[in-house]
Amino acid sequence: MKPIKRHQALKPLSKEHHEGLLLSWKIRTGLKKDVSIERIKSYCDFFFKEDLVHHFNIEELHIFPILEADDELVKRALADHRKLKRLFMKKQPDMKSIVAIEEELEAHIRFEERILFDKIQKVASERELLKIEKLHHSINDGSTESWKDKFWE
Ligand SMILES: [Fe+2]
Ligand SMILES: [Fe+2]
Repeated sequence: MKPIKRHQALKPLSKEHHEGLLLSWKIRTGLKKDVSIERIKSYCDFFFKEDLVHHFNIEELHIFPILEADDELVKRALADHRKLKRLFMKKQPDMKSIVAIEEELEAHIRFEERILFDKIQKVASERELLKIEKLHHSINDGSTESWKDKFWE
């Protein structure tokens, strides 16, 4: 029974990871279709504000602390978050920073899904998992659906 329960608790975050991977795909598609950097960046800004900031906060406040603060995987995840925040918050975006968002975001999500979350699932207590499960009922899902300029279509 245990693995099923664990899976449930982390499922909403994994669903958001799927949205993040979609963002990277949308950026790649936009670049292939010669969509302007400004249009792509506007959507990145929206996604960051509506989705990613909240996702990072949940991970940093409730998920990562399940492991020790000096855990190498947690340190890497936090460094990734800092790097991604810097890239998303860049005021004058250029091609390089857009490509960096696409690559860094995908690499970070793959790392969390394949390595970090795996370890967290293993060490988390039932109580900790239950706490995470409850927490996620308040997450606002699909907020990026409302974006009108779907340049990737
Ligand atoms: Fe993360
Ligand atoms: Fe994440």
